[in-house]
Amino acid sequence: LASFFFFFLLLFAMRLSEEEEEGGVRSDAIKRLLAVFGMDDPPAGVTHGRKQPPQYMLDLYNTVADVDGVTKDPYLLEGNTVRSFFDKLHSEQVEFRFNLSTVARTEKILTAELHLFKLRPQATLMFSRHHFCQVSVYQLLDTIKTNNTQERKLLSSRLIPVHSNGWEVFTITQAVRSWTVDEGSNLGLHVVVRTLGGTQMDLKLIRFASGRNHHQSKQPMLVLFTDDGRRRSTTLESTVTAILPQSPMAAQAPPRSARSLDQAAAWADEEGTSMPCKRLPLYVDFEEIGWSGWIVSPRGYNAYYCKGSCPFPLGQNMRPTNHATVQSIINALKLIRSVETPCCVPDKLFSINLLYFDDDENVVLKQYNDMVAGSCGCH
Ligand SMILES: *[C@@H]1O[C@H](CO)[C@@H](O)[C@H](O)[C@H]1NC(C)=O
Ligand SMILES: *[C@@H]1O[C@H](CO)[C@@H](O)[C@H](O)[C@H]1NC(C)=O
Repeated sequence: LASFFFFFLLLFAMRLSEEEEEGGVRSDAIKRLLAVFGMDDPPAGVTHGRKQPPQYMLDLYNTVADVDGVTKDPYLLEGNTVRSFFDKLHSEQVEFRFNLSTVARTEKILTAELHLFKLRPQATLMFSRHHFCQVSVYQLLDTIKTNNTQERKLLSSRLIPVHSNGWEVFTITQAVRSWTVDEGSNLGLHVVVRTLGGTQMDLKLIRFASGRNHHQSKQPMLVLFTDDGRRRSTTLESTVTAILPQSPMAAQAPPRSARSLDQAAAWADEEGTSMPCKRLPLYVDFEEIGWSGWIVSPRGYNAYYCKGSCPFPLGQNMRPTNHATVQSIINALKLIRSVETPCCVPDKLFSINLLYFDDDENVVLKQYNDMVAGSCGCH
């Protein structure tokens, strides 16, 4: 009986380690998928209920990407990242501060914009003799650090109709660049409104929505257009070599169990090898992966994959390279034993866009190259 019991224990232990191994593979695989998306860990997501992403970011996403996240026009964005930040100061004055700690040191700031929502003047003040006002955005400076008497630096200034309402955008790229170099120098921004004559105007007349008193959809916002330097490879070769050397998984991976080898063989028999090379759907479901808490859009995307044989003779519909054509001929002539038929692989790749909440609950739009197989060919 003891040996019988021991046998069961052994069986149980084997089963446990198998499950553990599967769990290990899964977490390793998800870590590697995160690396494809340029992250070490999944962002915390939104902690306090469902936060509404800024309309500006949703509109931007819908402009650059289709419903599946695939880039509509690769030349629309200059860089590959757009970050939005909400004001952290919530001041009664027209002062703003944005926490840029989530911007990577390696990220190149291309353009930075301050988005302010101008409210309609209050009714009692409608009959003002002013039709235009001068709105100026200043960067607040640390007088001790810069050894300077200057307390602020003018970044942007514009005439705005007094009676208008809606978003006003000011370019403040230089200030944001200096903040990312020295985080401590970020004392924020100050907005001054003057009459055309140069006297300061009543803040009751010209009002901008603040994070304190107004709806979330009108909150002051900083929008950064940046490039993280990942967009180099558009050719297949460089992508493949970029991914392969840094995947120790292949080396570490335990030998596949006999069961999974049998399974693979069964699948191969089932599908046969006669199907010619073609593109098949491969849906990557972010909810299934457990990422729906931080990804706003898309819910998933069709990456497609390539499958099938590349038999002699290769027709033009197989999109063969000259090299593949020659290889297929050598294979057919059986001139050299080890030369196989060419491989069915993606020969055109598209980028996708992700709209997501980062660690600080800022909404980020990022473009990732070479994520969707556009077509397959024999190579
Ligand atoms: C900015 O945010 C980070 C992460 O949330 C935090 O650690 C840091 O203290 C913040 N900086 C300021 C100046 O508030
Ligand atoms: C600040 O400026 C004063 C006078 O212009 C100069 O004597 C002093 O060395 C400067 N200090 C620093 C830290 O640059």
